[in-house]
Amino acid sequence: MRTSKIKVGILGGGGILHAHAPGFTRLRDVCEVVVAERDVSRHGLIRELLGNETEIVTDYKELLNRADIEAVDILLPHDLHLPVTLEAAEAGKQVLTEKVMARNVYECDRMIEACRKAGVTLTVCHDRRYDGDWQVLKHIVESGELGEILFWKLEHNQNVVVPEGHWIRSYDKIGGGAIMSCLTHQIDSLRWYGGEVENVTSMSKVVPERMEGEVIGGLLARMKSGALALLSINWHTQSHDAPNGLWYEFNHVTGTKGEAYFMSGKGTYVKIHNGESQLFEYNQRGEGSFVKIESASQLTGHQRCIEEWVKSLRGEEASILTDGTDIRKTVEVAEAAYLSERTGCVAKIPIEPTPWQQ
Ligand SMILES: NC(=O)c1ccc[n+]([C@@H]2O[C@H](COP(=O)([O-])OP(=O)(O)OC[C@H]3O[C@@H](n4cnc5c(N)ncnc54)[C@H](O)[C@@H]3O)[C@@H](O)[C@H]2O)c1
Repeated sequence: MRTSKIKVGILGGGGILHAHAPGFTRLRDVCEVVVAERDVSRHGLIRELLGNETEIVTDYKELLNRADIEAVDILLPHDLHLPVTLEAAEAGKQVLTEKVMARNVYECDRMIEACRKAGVTLTVCHDRRYDGDWQVLKHIVESGELGEILFWKLEHNQNVVVPEGHWIRSYDKIGGGAIMSCLTHQIDSLRWYGGEVENVTSMSKVVPERMEGEVIGGLLARMKSGALALLSINWHTQSHDAPNGLWYEFNHVTGTKGEAYFMSGKGTYVKIHNGESQLFEYNQRGEGSFVKIESASQLTGHQRCIEEWVKSLRGEEASILTDGTDIRKTVEVAEAAYLSERTGCVAKIPIEPTPWQQ
């Protein structure tokens, strides 16, 4: 068992540091962080999140050049995920990157190859796979009690308004728009729950005052299993954080024998239609109701992802659910959605990796 602390360089200290910081602070006995954030006006907040003693530099390259830093957590705009991963791999650092892995599969492949060559790991922080409630839904699906899976419906609702000049407004920096940036949470979960996607059709809506890429998008997919999936992203709704609003995220699965869903703020529920369940305490009154299945985990998905990643860095047994070689396929589905929109046709997976074009 390793006794010395792992030193991790956090590259980028913007909005998502709020989710990563509690992941690292609870592991301070085994892990120390140094942050690279070029915007010095953020340094005070970064110290509030990670502790007053936290070392902060402005240039991430400084951290890549340091021998005491063994691994990096990349929290940068999407167009930087590829170049920074290549540099980090070359410097021999283990890599964790925030979603989305990169802007297209071509870039993902280059990241995978660089890390393979350098002998370092490449993990993507798709936090939903590590979230207790989302894992409960996976457990329900894997129990087989829902019968044959017929239909998936996954939604993401948010109101994304960023100032002029922010990278999210740039098609080039975000890697398209809301589908690549954020519906990849739902695409990734769909693949994790239901297996691979066979083909995709998609349409989207641009609202130029908000950003260059799409703010709203829908994706209809046929899974290899034969099931259908309907996914949507809406970055122009106040439904999830207004009083009496709807939800932030929603995952629903319909099987021949039962159905289940996760809804933000509510939890995960299952209903076995004939009431006969080996696994769930099913309250069979009348036609039966949906039953809540509690998650055993009190941690957020980000906290658990970081915990497992740090365990893996320390050479301990770890449950890494989001290796880059797998997550590449999530990016591929989003890229296929764009291909479908451009061609007006159904896009079949696999697609041909092509370099990013503005
Ligand atoms: N999992 C989630 O739910 C979730 C939510 C939000 C964002 N994210 C992801 O987190 C990542 C970062 O997004 P964000 O919302 O924190 O963006 P952000 O704009 O708030 O933060 C990015 C930070 O990087 C800094 N930066 C940019 N270039 C730099 C450089 N060369 N050197 C040092 N610092 C640099 C910026 O100054 C900024 O503070 C993205 O991949 C995004 O998709 C994930």
